[in-house]
Amino acid sequence: MQHRGRFITLEGGEGVGKSTNLVMVAEYLESCGFEVVRTREPGGTPRAEAIRELLLDPTSQEPLDDDAELLLVFAARAQHLARVVRPALERGAWVVCDRFTDATFAYQGGGRGLDKTRIGELEAFVQQGLTPDLTLLLDMPMAVSRRRLEGRLDRDGGQRDRFEQERGDFFEAVRDAYLERAAAAPERVQVINADQSLDAVRRDLRTVLERRLEAWA
Ligand SMILES: Nc1ncnc2c1ncn2[C@@H]1O[C@H](COP(=O)(O)OP(=O)(O)OP(=O)(O)O)[C@@H](O)[C@H]1O
Ligand SMILES: [Mg+2]
Repeated sequence: MQHRGRFITLEGGEGVGKSTNLVMVAEYLESCGFEVVRTREPGGTPRAEAIRELLLDPTSQEPLDDDAELLLVFAARAQHLARVVRPALERGAWVVCDRFTDATFAYQGGGRGLDKTRIGELEAFVQQGLTPDLTLLLDMPMAVSRRRLEGRLDRDGGQRDRFEQERGDFFEAVRDAYLERAAAAPERVQVINADQSLDAVRRDLRTVLERRLEAWA
């Protein structure tokens, strides 16, 4: 029987380099001979992407209730798990996902201040024990990632989404909550210093991946 694939997530605040480095992680795993599914949260399926739009839309006049936000995140996650992540893992593919439940603990827990026990209850309900095999947490001081993000937004001419419009203390709380998650699960969550050149970040990611692949072999 084919072995179930591995589930790898990339995490970190806005602009730390998740999307940039996801490409490298996926290509490296492909070069090792694995089928790799690249995906993201919230989203990853058409309906889940529609929920993402609801979550990020900065234009609506109606404030989004914090509990509604949390439930939308998990609704999108349930759809993504059912349609993309579980089927891929079951056929032996590896899944590399840009953000997952650590982001919910960081943004809705840390940033919004929602009770983390309740988030944990939803996690258990929706995921039924499925958690990432490895999480790569890109960590850097908030001020530096904000500058990177501004650079990207200026280049895109992009409008800030609901989260990008938040203030500095929100992102400090997000970072702290991420580091708290890493401290609670040091085996699963590998913290990578994202405040260095892209080459240096890549080298560190590569080292973590090589070590993990050896351990799993
Ligand atoms: N190590 C690095 N050094 C300098 N710039 C970087 C580095 N990594 C990424 N960048 C740049 O920073 C910006 C943000 O990177 P990226 O979009 O990958 O971050 P992200 O974590 O996916 O952000 P978001 O949370 O908004 O999705 C991009 O313009 C990217 O080219
Ligand atoms: Mg991104």
